[in-house]
Amino acid sequence: MGLVDIHTHIIPDVDDGPKNFEDSINIIRQLYQLGIDTIVATPHKRRSFFSFDDKKVIENFNELCGMIVERNLCVKLYLGAEYYFGTDLFEDINNNSPFVIGNSKYLLVEFKSLRFSSQDKENLFRIFTLGYKIIAAHIERNGFNSDSFEGIEYLKNNSVLLQCDLMSLSGLWGKEAKSFMEELIKRDFVDIISTDVHCRDFESKLLSEGFGILSSLAGGAPEKYMGLGIKKRLGLL
Ligand SMILES: [Fe+2]
Repeated sequence: MGLVDIHTHIIPDVDDGPKNFEDSINIIRQLYQLGIDTIVATPHKRRSFFSFDDKKVIENFNELCGMIVERNLCVKLYLGAEYYFGTDLFEDINNNSPFVIGNSKYLLVEFKSLRFSSQDKENLFRIFTLGYKIIAAHIERNGFNSDSFEGIEYLKNNSVLLQCDLMSLSGLWGKEAKSFMEELIKRDFVDIISTDVHCRDFESKLLSEGFGILSSLAGGAPEKYMGLGIKKRLGLL
């Protein structure tokens, strides 16, 4: 059974991911070689950094899906987005048209930190009330501080799934993120591990290293974080 990667930047020319379709196909091939057969494309939706054009994202996604079929790649591709917790997310929620993961009610959301103000909690409560569910993106990169586990407990109590980046294990985001992620795995707080690939030259080495470390941490079974259970939970079958 193939693995699932629910956080990737593989749609060309829409964020800081690949610049063209051939580069996108190359990343998809690399992910497939690592055992991944289901991928969610999650371009950044954060207006202060990237101009997310809904129409262009959908067009390029559809074209990429067509190329996957043409080239006989045994990979299923789904669409989502990586929202920054702020205006873009709240507007799309208000318009009842957020970029959910596939056909699920799950949204991939990057938080500024693991400290949640009462306003943050109010905003999250509204999102939950409308039936949406949240996956917190790369929480190991939120910085470890004295309140971190309080924040994690708050997320867990609200059924937020916690996602970490595979390449944090190979040191991409520094020693602190790596040791925080290892601690989160040890305490069994991590629900999902994903690549968060961006089509950068150095990534293939870090991805292989990350898988090696994950396999030893997870007793040889990365499926717990990237396998059938995650596919079923998010309806990616
Ligand atoms: Fe990302």
